[in-house]
Amino acid sequence: MSDGPPQTANIGEIPLHADEVHVWQASLDADPAAIERLFGYLSPVEREQAARFLSPKDGNRFAVCRGILRELLGGYLRCPASDVCLEVGARGKPALRVDAGLRFNVSNSQGVALYAFALGREVGVDIEKIRPEVAFQGIEDRYFSPRERQELRNLPEKLRPEGFFLCWTRKEAYIKARGDGLYLPLDSFDVSLTPGEPAVLNSQDRDRWSVYPLPLRPDFAGSLVVEGDKIPVRMWEVSGYAVETLEVSDQRLPE
Ligand SMILES: CC(C)(COP(=O)(O)OP(=O)(O)OC[C@H]1O[C@@H](n2cnc3c(N)ncnc32)[C@H](O)[C@@H]1OP(=O)(O)O)[C@@H](O)C(=O)NCCC(=O)NCCS
Repeated sequence: MSDGPPQTANIGEIPLHADEVHVWQASLDADPAAIERLFGYLSPVEREQAARFLSPKDGNRFAVCRGILRELLGGYLRCPASDVCLEVGARGKPALRVDAGLRFNVSNSQGVALYAFALGREVGVDIEKIRPEVAFQGIEDRYFSPRERQELRNLPEKLRPEGFFLCWTRKEAYIKARGDGLYLPLDSFDVSLTPGEPAVLNSQDRDRWSVYPLPLRPDFAGSLVVEGDKIPVRMWEVSGYAVETLEVSDQRLPE
């Protein structure tokens, strides 16, 4: 854990050690100059993907999300962002084409992105805007386990939207850490979801993973799943070229 006042630094100046995880949060609603700069890092395929969005706002958010990912990866790899070569695994998880030991994962929701990076250990991250109107439309019946549905029903009504999205992001972060995408049935494992209580994963391979809640704005839920035990997590916010220390946490929650 880093103490003291928030600091600023340049991407690429913060070394990633083998025994830690870095998480970056970024707004995807960038100004035109930043969009242009970040768009310039994209591969031809990514540029086509950005152009396929029906709304220019969504296309720009995609480009900014990928551009920042490339900028962060370039910082860790000490190479230009446009030289970073990405590929997609058999079940959809993006990775570096040349294995430098650097693992990462990305998530975005409603114009906010989260990025997680680690050396030699898998990571999965998920962010969701807490939208009460989305919760309880049958999603929990379809994707949550019986134990999760019961825990959700037991919550006081005002905590249910947050509990719902804590559950959602923990489940997604876990399947993203494993790289499985939706090949792993979401009701085949459990997570805890009560706000303010420890994050718990109950899966066949639970000894392999740790689940961390991420300190985000109150209208967002975010979760991180890391391969390993008691791994310090450090978190920053991306703002333009410079980065600001937003929040740092090395707390590993008990299983
Ligand atoms: C694609 C999926 C991995 C995540 O989708 P999501 O939560 O909608 O989107 P996120 O923003 O969190 O993550 C998308 C990013 O995850 C990464 N990703 C894609 N497939 C992945 C996989 N198999 N493993 C890990 N990461 C993956 C990519 O970087 C992707 O970004 P991109 O679209 O710019 O390429 C997959 O789990 C999915 O489709 N989930 C559906 C969500 C749902 O219905 N959940 C039910 C409630 S629990």
